[in-house]
Amino acid sequence: MVIAHTIQEFQKARLALQGSVGFVPTMGALHQGHLSLLQRARAENDCVVVSIFVNPTQFLEGEDLEKYPRKEDADIEICRLAGVDILFMPTIEQMYYKDELIILAPKIRGYILEGAKRPGHFDGMLQIVMKLLNLTSPTRAYFGKKDAQQLSLVTQMVHDYFMNIEIVPCEIVRDKDGLALSSRNVYLSSQERLRALSISRSLQKASQMVMAKEFRVDVITEAMRIILRDVDSIEYVKVVDRFFYPIEEVKPQASIILVAAFVGKTRLIDNLWI
Ligand code: PAJ
Repeated sequence: MVIAHTIQEFQKARLALQGSVGFVPTMGALHQGHLSLLQRARAENDCVVVSIFVNPTQFLEGEDLEKYPRKEDADIEICRLAGVDILFMPTIEQMYYKDELIILAPKIRGYILEGAKRPGHFDGMLQIVMKLLNLTSPTRAYFGKKDAQQLSLVTQMVHDYFMNIEIVPCEIVRDKDGLALSSRNVYLSSQERLRALSISRSLQKASQMVMAKEFRVDVITEAMRIILRDVDSIEYVKVVDRFFYPIEEVKPQASIILVAAFVGKTRLIDNLWI
């Protein structure tokens, strides 16, 4: 496995790869959720490229950029064991220029839900993903459904900017108790973790209601909010179609139910594709 820290090192290693390339962009502190993307990329491509970069432009003022968990040595070992060909770990100086050209998220779909609660977050996310995709020029890039709106916007960017890359959506990996894996789960105390379980429980409840043919969004979200009393504050409980437009009736196989909530100081997101 080549570990590249500079653009030059990365481009040299990339040139030496042959065949199809699967790319997994991450911010590190790798867990089983990331690993499932790596394994899928490994299975479906001749070569695998992974990036680890805690991207400052997608963090808002007052968010957890400084204390975002970093586990460099463990991450390198995980990538090595997963059969990664190139691990790209650039510095901020390598990735950004002064007064550079910027990418903006679409005005509507990029500024609802996560985009409304974290204005500017998706601009920075798309900016770094554009850079990483252009540098890597992969055949396929793997993104988790856990960050559903991110996945949807990256898919849109690749479409709108005629980028010849297949974006592969990957299933959400959960702990045994149902909590969706996230690098941010380490912030939770054991008591907070228990309360955080109400997020996945509320989504299970929604799933049961849809299976029992309850499709009204107001009825479903009301039932979810009762379960979500265990969290400290709900940022949103919303049902959207696959293009992220809000809907009032769930359409099975075409809807996503999304939750964002604070447990203590930790902001958690989760969702269910139905
Ligand atoms: P990060 O949060 O590290 O996530 C990297 C990838 O792993 C994303 O595609 C995310 O959706 C996926 N992922 C995280 N938890 C998951 C889980 N429990 N199950 C399945 N997939 C999961 O998302 C980012 O980094 C950044 O925004 C990035 C795309 C790297 C741009 O900076």
